[in-house]
Amino acid sequence: MKSLLKINNLSTHFHTEAGPIKAVNDVSFRIGEGETVCIVGESGCGKSITAMSVMGLVEGPNGRVVNGQILFDGKDLLQIGKEELRRIRGNDISIIFQEPMSSLNPVITIGKQIMEPLMLHQRLNKKQAYARTIELIELVGIPRAEQIASSYPHELSGGMLQRIMIAIAISCGPKLLIADEPTTALDVTIQAQVLETLRQIKEQSKMSMMLITHDLGVVAEMADYVIVMYAGKIVEQGGVVELFEHPKHPYTRGLLKSKPVIGQRLEQLYSIPGQVPNPLELVESCYFHDRCESCLPVCHTRQPQLKKSGDGQQVACWLYEEEAQYE
Ligand SMILES: Nc1ncnc2c1ncn2[C@@H]1O[C@H](COP(=O)(O)OP(=O)(O)OP(=O)(O)O)[C@@H](O)[C@H]1O
Ligand SMILES: [Mg+2]
Repeated sequence: MKSLLKINNLSTHFHTEAGPIKAVNDVSFRIGEGETVCIVGESGCGKSITAMSVMGLVEGPNGRVVNGQILFDGKDLLQIGKEELRRIRGNDISIIFQEPMSSLNPVITIGKQIMEPLMLHQRLNKKQAYARTIELIELVGIPRAEQIASSYPHELSGGMLQRIMIAIAISCGPKLLIADEPTTALDVTIQAQVLETLRQIKEQSKMSMMLITHDLGVVAEMADYVIVMYAGKIVEQGGVVELFEHPKHPYTRGLLKSKPVIGQRLEQLYSIPGQVPNPLELVESCYFHDRCESCLPVCHTRQPQLKKSGDGQQVACWLYEEEAQYE
């Protein structure tokens, strides 16, 4: 499968008064054409900052991509000019965030908010943009599109608003859609509908997707390939079936064990002991060692590198390295 996005050795740091935070630490992965790659991991492990780095949205007063390449269609997004990046962002790469309400303007009708980027990026006139808007609202599965177009955001439910966000995100026919926890704020039924909508659109348009979620149920349904992040690093990655059937990293296994199953009582639900490490206090070691059931002496002092461990699967863990036994 041809790569659409190829990230090589990406590191994004924040400089705070207390010291540097390595939010994304030497991360490499690829997304093929038409492929859905899910990024999973607990809160604070660097999922959103990875997405923001791709979108060129980290450049704040203290956050910066300090190293790496982000090759989109062969072009390094970190090297191109602001204008070209803006053009790619408006046409080829779109992002949906978790909170639709905060991304929409409360005093502008839904229709106008969908029309605006169509007129700006696709150079459609008003009439064409309106016709496309109605098509898009229907495409994301909302009935009575005309009526919805003349409504304001507060008149719509959360699930409808999230679908409007999807409509806006796909309106320019992006090659890559980045969705950061797109269904976390929704209830389960609506979540399933929104995911189904995304899947249908993906199938019709052969769009690639980077889907960020902490919900392994969503991963199982949507992913072709899975990236597991912990404390800013990838600890395991692989095809969805391989990863679910043969998780290798103790962290991945812990995440899978904490996934609820039907019929299980809440108090029986497993949770990984301990907490993610303080990003300001990371020392040379496996960052997961103090929560790990299978920790070896070497894990306290040396960081394992991501290595091939199966067909397309890679893991960063001393358990799978022979030299660990001689430490
Ligand atoms: N503006 C900022 N200034 C300083 N540190 C930041 C900033 N934004 C993020 N971070 C830090 O970067 C790390 C990664 O954050 P990120 O938002 O990518 O996590 P996440 O995996 O998306 O978590 P969640 O599941 O909660 O959304 C965290 O340690 C976070 O505290
Ligand atoms: Mg996040």
